[in-house]
Amino acid sequence: MMRQAGRYMKAYRDLREKYPSFRQRSEIPEVAIEVSLQPWRSFQPDGVILFSDIVTPLPGLGIDMDIAEGKGPIIDRPIRTQAQVDALRSLDPVESLPFIREILQALRQEVGDRSTVLGFVGAPWTLAAYAVEGKGSKTYSVIKGMAFSDPTILHQLLAKLADAIAVYARYQIDSGAQVIQMFDSWAGQLSPQDYETFALPYQQRVFRQVKQTHPDTPLILLVSGSAGVLERMGRSGADIISLDWTVDMTEARQRLGRQMKVQGNLDPGVLFGSREFIRDRILDTIRKAGNQGHILNLGHGILPDTPEENAAFFFETAKQADQLLAVHA
Ligand code: CP3
Repeated sequence: MMRQAGRYMKAYRDLREKYPSFRQRSEIPEVAIEVSLQPWRSFQPDGVILFSDIVTPLPGLGIDMDIAEGKGPIIDRPIRTQAQVDALRSLDPVESLPFIREILQALRQEVGDRSTVLGFVGAPWTLAAYAVEGKGSKTYSVIKGMAFSDPTILHQLLAKLADAIAVYARYQIDSGAQVIQMFDSWAGQLSPQDYETFALPYQQRVFRQVKQTHPDTPLILLVSGSAGVLERMGRSGADIISLDWTVDMTEARQRLGRQMKVQGNLDPGVLFGSREFIRDRILDTIRKAGNQGHILNLGHGILPDTPEENAAFFFETAKQADQLLAVHA
């Protein structure tokens, strides 16, 4: 279960009081290690995700940022001019992200072979959206204004971000990440033709570079609201496509082809339902996905008010799915 996964856990909220700044929580290794391990201790999932954020590498490029509670990333001096793009540094992760190495190494040591350690990065379009807008947006009017009037500057920014993200993903793998998930959360806000211009080529640029040096590390691609661009996601170079709940699992597997592996795709809202409903949706998703090439997951991050016991029930049910499927056939 990804992303703001921490917030529904009391243990995380308690720790947040002690370390009120997100950057502290995610950049002080002992704290970030502890937060990463909280869901592992409670639920023993098959994957443990690094506690961090997609904007974490931006200061290393010269884009200062903070993460405000309830709001997400804030960039005080958004990137809008040629001079600002020219001034961006290339990423030296050893120098600017030493804590990431410490956190990933410790996670690998802690979970051993009992779980898989996932690293993650933001995709160029989504990071550019934060860098250009300066914060989360509902309309993306500033970055779209740039894209649809004078795209040269934006393409240079996307290219620089892609190269930095590839360097960062490789660094995470070298530090212990066994899978990398790339979040292009806001690429679903693009029309398919604009996705092909501003998102897909840069997803490909990241994945191509990572595969060159790390061909055996599985790469997952997530786009929110992706039903209209699924086939295009399939051309990104990712090994696994993360599906949200706006698409039927059976149809998604048909559209992507049987060779493509998938992740997903329960509505996170299902975890507010009754136990019976949660169980039925899990079994339904597994039946539709078939018994190969599928990572059972929510279609997006778990919601902050999710009852913790329902998250626990999700994992218990998933682990017993084989027996339950036989009973409820
Ligand atoms: O499960 C985990 O612990 C993984 C850690 C993780 C975080 N952010 C921690 C976080 C991951 C994988 C992310 C990715 C991320 N961050 C994405 C891609 C995933 C997606 O949702 O599509 C995006 C778009 C962001 C940017 C961002 N950071 C947003 C939208 C927010 C939420 C703002 C809000 O509170 O509604 C953040 C802050 C953030 N990142 C929190 C956490 C736990 C919440 C801050 C807090 O209260 O501690």
